[in-house]
Amino acid sequence: MIRSHTCGELRAENIGQEVTLCGWVDSYRDHGGGLFIDLRDRYGKTQIVFGPESGPENQESARTLRSEFVVAVAGKVAHRPEGTTNPRLATGEIEVHPQRLMILNKSLTPPFQPGAKELPNEDLRLKYRYLDLRRPEQQATMLLRHRIIRGMRAFFDEHDFVDVETPMLGRSTPEGARDYLVPSRIHHGSFYALPQSPQLYKQILMIAGYDRYVQVARCFRDEDLRADRQPEFTQLDMEMSFVDSDDIIGLIDGLVARLAKEVLGQEVKLPLPRMTYDEAMERFGHDAPDLRFGMELVDITDLAKETDFRVFRATADGGGRVRGINVKGAAANYSRKGIDELTNYVMQDFAAKGLAWFKVEEGRTLASPIAKNFSPALLGKIAERTAAQPGDLLLFVADQFEVTCKALYALRKRFGEELKLYDPNTKNFSWIVEFPMFARDEESHCWAAMHHPFTAPRPQDLPLLASDPGKCRAQAYDLVINGSEAGGGTIRIHDPQVQQQVFGLLGIDPAQARERFGFLLDALAYGAPPHGGIALGIDRWVMLFGGLDNIRDCIAFPKTQKATDLMTEAPGPVDPQQLRELGIQIRASEAPSRR
Ligand code: AMO
Ligand code: AMP
Repeated sequence: MIRSHTCGELRAENIGQEVTLCGWVDSYRDHGGGLFIDLRDRYGKTQIVFGPESGPENQESARTLRSEFVVAVAGKVAHRPEGTTNPRLATGEIEVHPQRLMILNKSLTPPFQPGAKELPNEDLRLKYRYLDLRRPEQQATMLLRHRIIRGMRAFFDEHDFVDVETPMLGRSTPEGARDYLVPSRIHHGSFYALPQSPQLYKQILMIAGYDRYVQVARCFRDEDLRADRQPEFTQLDMEMSFVDSDDIIGLIDGLVARLAKEVLGQEVKLPLPRMTYDEAMERFGHDAPDLRFGMELVDITDLAKETDFRVFRATADGGGRVRGINVKGAAANYSRKGIDELTNYVMQDFAAKGLAWFKVEEGRTLASPIAKNFSPALLGKIAERTAAQPGDLLLFVADQFEVTCKALYALRKRFGEELKLYDPNTKNFSWIVEFPMFARDEESHCWAAMHHPFTAPRPQDLPLLASDPGKCRAQAYDLVINGSEAGGGTIRIHDPQVQQQVFGLLGIDPAQARERFGFLLDALAYGAPPHGGIALGIDRWVMLFGGLDNIRDCIAFPKTQKATDLMTEAPGPVDPQQLRELGIQIRASEAPSRR
């Protein structure tokens, strides 16, 4: 039996037609006189009714149907009886009265019903991923992913980009994570690294004259996983020659507007807003701020110098910062106990030394156990600076700049969610630009590349590489969607001398640079055009466009937080013979433990 329609297709105008449908049994109800089946495929559901006119043989066969059996039914489309139509279902006006039923395959009792309302436990979903992927929500997400990738491919094709595949087995590219290594059978003791990104290959394609490169590229990073990170993820990776930051940002602006329109039906005003890294850290304490709501950070370091309150005064005089947020109208929501909980949160998770607070009362007076250390005039200035209104809760952290950033960013994010300060359906797009070239590595105290070692400084900052690298700003840009880093890129160094100088600052001496990146330094010496690019995190785009909070839902076959695949049980042990061929021996103490 070949299907004539899908399970989401039939409408009132099909009434009277002979049709054949194939699909999975979503649910079955036996009402004595008739047997009702909801038949499901990826297009929708159709009600099938085995009434007396289906004949005793078909009715008997239908009684053996259970959840997730695969069947074909042939019959007539009929109007549902008066009062039984379902306006919530696209096929809700009709039902099919079958003359034939064919059971194409049976199913064991599934551990969960793909059609059920409640979400099953995630481990179960991942183990039986084929059942989970039958869930309509999951299918909608995979379709959303398809539409996003299709839109991206079409956009870059229209702009003359060439799709080039780059190797999976290659040399490690430093993107800041640990590599996944692949041992070589032919060269014992040597390893390929799976790409953390195609960074160096795409730069070499520019040197090779390809001018505009694009790839939907798989990247592998062995790092600690979070809700928005997977060890294996997908980038829309691109690179262009003869461009500056504005060219790349302008092009991606166009892509954002197109996809927002095509996929979300949302008009996005261009150009997308841009903010420098320094401004983002001042106003929001983070380089990927959520701009769907206000509650900006307020600096009172200058006022703190005038108080007798020891922590404020000492921090301000010692070169630290006193900053805070105004949680509008929240004073009544937080008892002493509630504030203690907030204080513990910033102390334990962000190493803050405390949390100072004021409740704003009638007449804009500030009430707090620490208020006695402040003159009324000073309290007035704090109220002024924070735009305080009666009922507001003011929270302050006095510390090194970085600690105030982390603690206040986390508080702001938390209040944004808890107090529902934004519509979760809106999408906010913006750029953060002019990142620092380097950050101090906390352990080694050496410079580390903020983006990656191939990033070019702003031309005017070139002399700072020698004199004050910490002040040097990069030609770097991150795309931020709703407070998540959805993409990042830079203009690259195309001068081998500057590249050597940056390697030097990163503690890579000339011999090491030659050993690891000799091919790049050589290529840069053979006529490298100025170039730059960006990579967009496709899994995160799907997550953000779909309003989802778990990256695993955006990937057909994802890994768990512990980097395992519960369906195939990867990673798994291998045959001793395979290890021998690779020249690898597992130490007894490190023999593979199953998860
Ligand atoms: P970057 O490392 O910033 O840049 O990566 C680009 C984008 O990829 C996404 N992303 C991830 N998504 C899911 N899981 C992960 N583990 C993960 N890591 C990153 C983010 C991020 O913005 N080669 C450079 C790009 C360039 O300079 O052109 C690079 O890979 O959305
Ligand atoms: P203390 O003087 O340590 O008893 O602290 C008085 C109040 O100031 C308490 O509410 C502390 O949480 C708060 N506090 C202490 N250290 C800091 C700090 N570095 N920044 C902000 N508030 C602080």
